[in-house]
Amino acid sequence: MSVSPTLSSPVFSAEELAEVARLKAKYPEPKAAIMPVLWMAQHKWGWLSEDVMRYVGEVMDLPYAHVLGVASFYTMYFKKPMGRHHVQVCTNVSCMLKGGTELYHHVQQRLGIGNNEATADGKFSLEEVECMGACGGAPMIAINETFHENVSSAAVDRLLDSCS
Ligand code: FES
Repeated sequence: MSVSPTLSSPVFSAEELAEVARLKAKYPEPKAAIMPVLWMAQHKWGWLSEDVMRYVGEVMDLPYAHVLGVASFYTMYFKKPMGRHHVQVCTNVSCMLKGGTELYHHVQQRLGIGNNEATADGKFSLEEVECMGACGGAPMIAINETFHENVSSAAVDRLLDSCS
């Protein structure tokens, strides 16, 4: 994931615009492709600045308010710069009963940041999340899109150490 926090004029490449067109063609209503297109934008620019959301609105033929509404509703869309390694720790019921809250506090202490914050070097960010559907492997965390289950404090330390 690349990060361009000072981005002023975001532009998708020709290949990315072709992918936008492909996504729009998949749905009876092209505007329904807004979620995967926002995801593409976040993957490209690291987070969804106002400039990025306005640009997504242009390529989707949607008003900025609509794009902002979708991006604001779903927590998976970042409205500020986050770390290259985004650590999500589940503290919902199953994970909480298996030590998820302690795990969250352990990661918080280890990284020295709070919920929805990033480390000063931009390497890590942390988010306390609701159930991610992996209750059978509680307690679980996700680092970017990779789930890790039955995670202990020692295991999370090893995972964080392995992040470059
Ligand atoms: S409660 Fe943590 S994944 Fe379901």
